[in-house]
Amino acid sequence: ATTLGASAAEKGRYFGTAVAAYKLSDATYSGILDREFNMITPENEMKWDATEPTQGQFSYSSADQIVSHATAHGQRMRGHALAWHSQQPSWAQNMSGTALRNAMVNHITNVATHYKGKIYAWDVVNEAFADGGGGGRRDSNLQRTGNDWIEVAFRTARAADPGAKLCYNDYNTDGVNAKSNAVYAMVQDFKSRGVPIDCVGFQSHINSGSPLPSDYQANLQRFANLGVDVQITELDIAGSGTAQANSYASVVKACLAVSRCTGITVWGIRDSDSWRSGDTPLLFDNNGNKKPAYTAALDAI
Ligand code: XIL
Repeated sequence: ATTLGASAAEKGRYFGTAVAAYKLSDATYSGILDREFNMITPENEMKWDATEPTQGQFSYSSADQIVSHATAHGQRMRGHALAWHSQQPSWAQNMSGTALRNAMVNHITNVATHYKGKIYAWDVVNEAFADGGGGGRRDSNLQRTGNDWIEVAFRTARAADPGAKLCYNDYNTDGVNAKSNAVYAMVQDFKSRGVPIDCVGFQSHINSGSPLPSDYQANLQRFANLGVDVQITELDIAGSGTAQANSYASVVKACLAVSRCTGITVWGIRDSDSWRSGDTPLLFDNNGNKKPAYTAALDAI
């Protein structure tokens, strides 16, 4: 096939991108989106601050716009993200203890119920582990409600939308390291105790300072061996030219080599759409032209 999505589909995988609702009216943007991609993650529109700006008052119009677009164009959706320390509404940032725990459960129930049946996979919990060598949880208001907040989030999401795959998603977990070891131990524990978890998302924000880990594929495989799917959820790779192209090809090949790697999502369409546009980390240039990284990714599928 001649596009990312169609080629991935031939291999039983998807190729997705993050989408911003306000850009859907940009014809260049939506033209590339609908030609190349068959999975969509809302870049910000399903986050807590966007969907519950005031406690108990839910706001779904921007996210609904993306879901409608996906439905009209035969694209599936990844939901992102139900519980996260970042991009919380200010009312939640100021909460703690039982009140915050109850607010989290209510939030997950409402959002997952609103989108019930429309989401392929939810990032139920995002970025809950600390960076560095300690292998511990990240300190946050959610973590301070008790170490069981993650499993409560997963059980709540399962009850609300039993058909969605439920993922844990994080960054700097792309190779074998203290942080990914800690996530691995949590998944193993969840599996052994019957806490519902179906997938692990590897954001794969790759910087020039810390290139693609050499054990990238092996790391995906060890998680898959625990009995969960793995997905590349927010891929972007700093750089340009052949070096960037080779790294993209390596990520695609690693996913295809792991049978439980179900798909790849890049975190935006054109470099100018990127949250770190200075790194020119995406597959299309500012004008929407294919970069060498695009050709390398397509050829690798
Ligand atoms: C980023 C978005 O791309 C930006 O538009 C926003 O200002 C901040 O969040 N990890 C995640 C994503 O899980 O939700 C983040 O997205 C990038 C890092």
